[in-house]
Amino acid sequence: MDVLRTANPVWVGSSELTMTLDGITACIDAGAGAVVAKSVNESAAARRQLDIAGYAFVSGDRRVRPTGSADLGDGLLNRSGLAQVELDEWLGVLAAAVEHGAPGNCPVLGSITLGDANAAARIGRAMAAVVPAVELNVGAPHGREARAVRQLTEVDAVHDAVRTVRAAVDVPLFVKLPGQASDVVALARAARSAGADAVGLVGRYPGFLPDLDGGAVLGSWGAWGSPACLPMSLYWVAKTRLALGPGTPLIGTNGARTAADVLRFLASGARAVEVVTALWIKGPGVLADLVAGVEAYLSGRDPEEFAGSALAGTRDYADIPPNPSPAWLPYTAPSGR
Ligand SMILES: Cc1cc2nc3c(=O)[nH]c(=O)nc-3n(C[C@H](O)[C@H](O)[C@H](O)COP(=O)(O)O)c2cc1C
Repeated sequence: MDVLRTANPVWVGSSELTMTLDGITACIDAGAGAVVAKSVNESAAARRQLDIAGYAFVSGDRRVRPTGSADLGDGLLNRSGLAQVELDEWLGVLAAAVEHGAPGNCPVLGSITLGDANAAARIGRAMAAVVPAVELNVGAPHGREARAVRQLTEVDAVHDAVRTVRAAVDVPLFVKLPGQASDVVALARAARSAGADAVGLVGRYPGFLPDLDGGAVLGSWGAWGSPACLPMSLYWVAKTRLALGPGTPLIGTNGARTAADVLRFLASGARAVEVVTALWIKGPGVLADLVAGVEAYLSGRDPEEFAGSALAGTRDYADIPPNPSPAWLPYTAPSGR
């Protein structure tokens, strides 16, 4: 079974919204192409971190929204932790969720956020008995703040972790990478050569936002994502698609809020897109809009044919001829200065 060939390319990514059976089934029923369950790992500290979770939706002019008034254009700064559940109990939740998704062909994936690679391998092996695919997140944006989750930014570290988990998992293994690395394409190549079946691009970023009334939003560092991150995510999707070719399936994430954004991920080379913050803002019902918008645009065209279509006319700087007149001329200082 090709787990990436889902009924539609709009997937729900891992977050607290997919941390319970009710949360996952709500996403399935709302029309997700696939649902990635909340991450787990072996560490009690990673679970405890959920006890200090905090979420701030931030408007385009960097103001924290009052509760319940977030807008799709907002960014989200948050602290977060992993699911507070024992593995046996979690496998039962995953099995029930997989069963719920089956009639509508909506796969439910297990997810592990890397702590220790050998422990991730043990968890992955157990998960593989109940889910059609496992996603391994090696790019947790909280990695510097919380040692119990890791953000790997070096080729060797990604390769070793993926190889260890790959050896234990006998279903497709997807590896989600950080965007905050000097060469994400090299990380994708390392993940692939260590046996990843697909690569997820890219995780959210560490962030910090002073509150000008005093102190800082959330009173700490956090993980940050916003619609403005979209071109940064698309950069790595497009570069990875060009470097590794269509034979390496890519899953886009970080910054898609609308159907047009999902299409932009596909046009950059992704086969599926994991959306999360849009659901925090609008609820799972937003999936219907996203799926309808994508399907209307593609009007029957296979999303896989569309994948990477924006790359056809993309040139390297060196191949672009000089402008006949300086392009920056209209942007010189206004008169009077
Ligand atoms: C509150 C919150 C919790 C998240 N928890 C996880 C997690 O446990 N594991 C994981 O791989 N990604 C996690 N993510 C990342 C999302 O799966 C997704 O990749 C990211 O939010 C970017 O997509 P978006 O711009 O649609 O939100 C989390 C994101 C948010 C906002």
